[in-house]
Amino acid sequence: MKISGIISVTVSLLAASIAQTPDDYVMDDCIKCQSVKCILSKMTVEEKITQKMIPEFRNWSVGSCGATSGVTVMNSEIASYLAKYKFGGVILFAPNTPQTQQTLVLVDDIQQANLQTNKIPLLVTIDQEGGAVTRLGQGTMLPGSMAVGATRNPNYASQCGQIIGEELSALGINANNAPDADINTNPLNPVINVRSFGSDTSLVAEYATLYYKGLASKNVIATAKHFPGHGDTTADSHFFLPNVTSSKDYVYSHELVPFQTAIDNGIDMIMTAHIQYPALDSTTIPSKAGGDIIVPATLSKVILNDILRGEMGFQGVVISDAMNMDAIVTNFGQVDSVRLSFQASLDFSLMPSIPTCLADPLMSVFDQIIAGVKQDIADGTYTMEELDASVTRILNLKKKYGILAYDGSNQAARITNALSVVGSADHKAIETQMANDAITLINNDPVRGIPLNIDANTKIAILMPEVAPEKQILAITQTLSELGINVPVIPFSYLNTQFSATAGQAQIDQATHVILGSQIIVNSPELDGGVINTVSNGWATTFPLNAINYANSKNKPIFTISLRSPYDVANFVNSTATLAAYGYKGYDAGVMMEPNIPAAIRVIFGNVKPVGKLPVDIYSPIDPTTIMYPYGYGLTI
Ligand SMILES: *[C@@H]1O[C@H](CO)[C@@H](O)[C@H](O)[C@H]1NC(C)=O
Ligand SMILES: *[C@@H]1O[C@H](CO)[C@@H](O)[C@H](O)[C@H]1NC(C)=O
Ligand SMILES: *[C@@H]1O[C@H](CO)[C@@H](O)[C@H](O)[C@H]1NC(C)=O
Repeated sequence: MKISGIISVTVSLLAASIAQTPDDYVMDDCIKCQSVKCILSKMTVEEKITQKMIPEFRNWSVGSCGATSGVTVMNSEIASYLAKYKFGGVILFAPNTPQTQQTLVLVDDIQQANLQTNKIPLLVTIDQEGGAVTRLGQGTMLPGSMAVGATRNPNYASQCGQIIGEELSALGINANNAPDADINTNPLNPVINVRSFGSDTSLVAEYATLYYKGLASKNVIATAKHFPGHGDTTADSHFFLPNVTSSKDYVYSHELVPFQTAIDNGIDMIMTAHIQYPALDSTTIPSKAGGDIIVPATLSKVILNDILRGEMGFQGVVISDAMNMDAIVTNFGQVDSVRLSFQASLDFSLMPSIPTCLADPLMSVFDQIIAGVKQDIADGTYTMEELDASVTRILNLKKKYGILAYDGSNQAARITNALSVVGSADHKAIETQMANDAITLINNDPVRGIPLNIDANTKIAILMPEVAPEKQILAITQTLSELGINVPVIPFSYLNTQFSATAGQAQIDQATHVILGSQIIVNSPELDGGVINTVSNGWATTFPLNAINYANSKNKPIFTISLRSPYDVANFVNSTATLAAYGYKGYDAGVMMEPNIPAAIRVIFGNVKPVGKLPVDIYSPIDPTTIMYPYGYGLTI
C-alpha cells in the first residue's frame, strides 16, 4: 500500500509538471519529467542559442595551437569547451571513429563532458551514408545509394537504413546525416553522383523513405538531404555556390518530391543545401564578395519556412549543411550566415565554427554568434518566439528518440553489444548480396566477354586509377584469392598518368587479359590538375580509352569496370565487356572499404550473374543531349 502510494504521488507530480511547471522545479526535474516546456522555461537565451549549434572536433591540438591530430579520446580541453558552450549536439568524422570500442567510449565521454554543465544530452550525428561517404572505421560500408538503386530491390534500401541504424545505435550515435534524397539528373554533378539512388524521381523518393524508416526502426534520427535538392548541379557547394535554374513547376515535380514523400512518412530532420534556387526564391542579398546575390536555400526564409514548413507541412528539425563550406562563408561570413539562417527558420547550425585548440580565434566565433543573435532579437529581425519555437522542435526531437532520457550506464555491456553488431558477419553478408546485385553489364562480346575463363597461360594486367592506387589492386587480388583463382597479375596504377609505352602498354604486352578500372569525378581538382574533366578531356578518361584500343589492337580481351559515376561507360564501346560497379574504394589495412570491386570481379569471373539495371540515363559523349543507355538498361548473360 505504502509503496503504491508513493508511486502514485510521483506520477501525479510528473503529470502536473507537464501541465504547468511549478516554479520550484529545477532543470533536473524538467529533464526527469521529459517536459519540453519545462526544460525551455529553465534555459537562458544563451543556452537556447547554443542548443542550435552542432560543432565538430575531428582534429585538435592539445596544450598549444600547434599541429593537430585526430581526436579519438576525450581530452580535458575539448571537455571544457563542450561544458562552456552547452551545445545542442556534436558531429563526428572518420578521425573520431576508427574503432568500435574506442568510438563508443568517446561518445560516452562527449555526453559526460556536456553533462558537467548542460542537463540536456547531446544529439550525436555523423555522415554514415554507406558507400563513398562512410565514417565508421569498422562499420559495414555498404555499396552506396546508387548501387542500391541499380539493384532495383527496395528491401535493400530498408536494410541499408536498418544496418547503419543498428551500428550507430550500438555506439550511442543517435542521428545520421542520411539518406541522400537528391535526384542525380546531372551527369556533371561532381559531389552527389553515386551518393544518390539515381535519376528517377519516384525511385529516389521510394528508396530514400525506405532507408529513413530503416534508420528510425533502430531509433536513429534520419536526415533527408540536401533540401531543396543537390542532384542537378555542376558545382560542389563545398567550393562554389551552385545555381539551379529549373522552373518552379519542374522543381516541384522533381527535386521536392523525395522530400515530400519522406515528410508524408514522418521524417524528423531535413538538411538544407547551400544552393541558389531562383525559381523558389529570387531575393537578392549583399555578398561580402561584392554585389547582391540570390539567397541560397540555407539562408532563405521563403524556402525553409514558407515552402518546407508551410506548403510541404514539415514539422521537424531543419539542419544546415556544414556552415564552414566556402559557398556560405565567402559570400556571407561565418557569423552573419548563421544569423541569417536562424532568421530563415533554420534549427540546427552544423559546424558554425571549427576551432582546433582552446586559444583558437575561431573559438570567439561562437561568442560572436551568440551576441549577434541576441542583437537580432533586440532589433526584431529574429524573435524570442521564433527562437523558442526552434528550440522546442529540437527538444521534441530529443524526447522522441529518447535522447533526453540518455543513460550512460552499463558501458561494458554496451561495448560487448557494439563489438558484436558493428561490421558483423550478418551485415557483411547482406552487403555482399547488395553489391553483387548492383553490378550492371553495359556491353559484352558474346565470344570473348564475361565470364573470363582462365587456363594455364592466363596472365592478367590490372590497370587501376585511384589516389592510393594499391588499394583497388589489392581489392582485386584479395577477391581472386577468396574465389580460389590463382592467376599471375601485372598491376599498374595510372593516377595522373597518360597511357604510354611504359604506362599501361608494357603491362598489357605481358598479359593475356586486362582488367581496367575507370573512375570519373567530373571536376575533381586533385584528380585532374584543376581542369574540369568532362568526358572528353583528362587522363582519367584518355588513359582507359587508349588502354582499350591498345588491348584490342593486340587482340587481348579487356574488361572495364566503371568505379564511380557510371557516365563514363559511354566511352567504352570498344571494351570487351563493360560493367558499372558504382563504388571505388579498395582494400586498406585489412579492411575491404567498399564491396563493389569484389562484386565486379565475381561477375567478371562468372561467380555471380549480372542483374543490375542502370539507375540513371547515360548520355552520348559526343552528343550530350542523346541518351545512349537509358535508365533501366542492363544486359544479362
Ligand atoms: C587532422 O589530423 C590528421 C592526423 O591525425 C592529419 O592527417 C590531417 O591533415 C589533419 N587535418 C587538418 C584539417 O588539420
Ligand atoms: C542563377 O540563375 C538565375 C536564373 O537563370 C540568374 O538570373 C542568375 O544570374 C544566376 N546567378 C548566378 C550567380 O549565376
Ligand atoms: C573503337 O574502335 C574503332 C576501331 O578501332 C575506332 O575507330 C574508334 O575510334 C574506337 N572508339 C572509341 C570510342 O575508342
